[in-house]
Amino acid sequence: MALIPILLYPDPRLHKVAKPVQAVDARIHRLIDDMLETMYDANGIGLAASQVDVHERLVVIDISQERDQPLVLINPEIVWASEEMHLNEEGCLSVPGIYDGVERASAIKASALDRSGQRRTIEADGVLAVCIQHEMDHLLGKVFVQYLSPLKRNRIKTKMLKLAREESR
Ligand code: NI
Repeated sequence: MALIPILLYPDPRLHKVAKPVQAVDARIHRLIDDMLETMYDANGIGLAASQVDVHERLVVIDISQERDQPLVLINPEIVWASEEMHLNEEGCLSVPGIYDGVERASAIKASALDRSGQRRTIEADGVLAVCIQHEMDHLLGKVFVQYLSPLKRNRIKTKMLKLAREESR
């Protein structure tokens, strides 16, 4: 297994739209393992393939305290979302150090292939519902800061570009 570099906002590659995974084969299994290792290493609860510059519909999630409940979603679709919305504080491995409120459906039902290529239905509320919606946005090229006001978003962009400049020095 190997760590993969995570793209940082405002990297334009984060806005590419991911294509469906064609086959759940050895290449995808390797990618899943590397993404899980990368997510755990970064102390994240979710990572989309888009964030590691692979533009295929694949997401890994683990919201457990023990970090031992990996959830793999391949070609996920949201098949139902509650009308009830909830405002949650979100963060993102591609926007480190930034947390802000985003309103999302408070419960969802998603359909996705698991690691073995079996189709599964996942019913989620709370943190898991937020996480699935956040990660699926990445597959559409959307980063959570795009839900914030233009003023906030520009401030975040400036801060991230300044950090990147400092780190490349
Ligand atoms: Ni994210």
